[in-house]
Amino acid sequence: MSTLYERVGGQPFFGQLVERFYQGVAQDPVLAHMYPDDLSDPTRHLALFLGQYWGGPPTYSEERGHPRLRMRHVPFVIGLAERDAWLAHMVGSVRVSDASPEDQAELIDYLEMASRNLINSV
Ligand code: HEM
Repeated sequence: MSTLYERVGGQPFFGQLVERFYQGVAQDPVLAHMYPDDLSDPTRHLALFLGQYWGGPPTYSEERGHPRLRMRHVPFVIGLAERDAWLAHMVGSVRVSDASPEDQAELIDYLEMASRNLINSV
């Protein structure tokens, strides 16, 4: 049984996925202000987190500790508008990736669920 991480080609896939995602975020009127100007750390952290989640090495946790995603997002106001914008950029990035349709669907299901769970404001 292969992991999704292996099927998509490992960490480079997640690096490219997140890089495309942040190109969209940087232009997004709802999201851009939440992030630092230099997106290299956010890119690295999110790519490592996703790689680890989908079966890659535990580099994210080694560097950053337990993910505790809800806690890490408390400083940011995430309502429906922020969640929808975030998810739209992620889904767009998954859709143009070369992952198989089945793997794309699995990724998108997870991202929908995870982003819903991070809403912390009405
Ligand atoms: C719901 C909409 C979301 C918004 C608006 C949002 C926003 C943010 C912001 C502003 C940061 C800080 C970036 C920085 O300064 O380094 C961040 C970090 C992060 N986010 Fe999100 N996020 C969302 C959903 C998600 C989801 C669904 C995941 C995981 C599937 C995720 C995973 C992460 C990770 C891993 C980090 C880096 C944490 C660290 O510092 O190690 N986020 N997010």
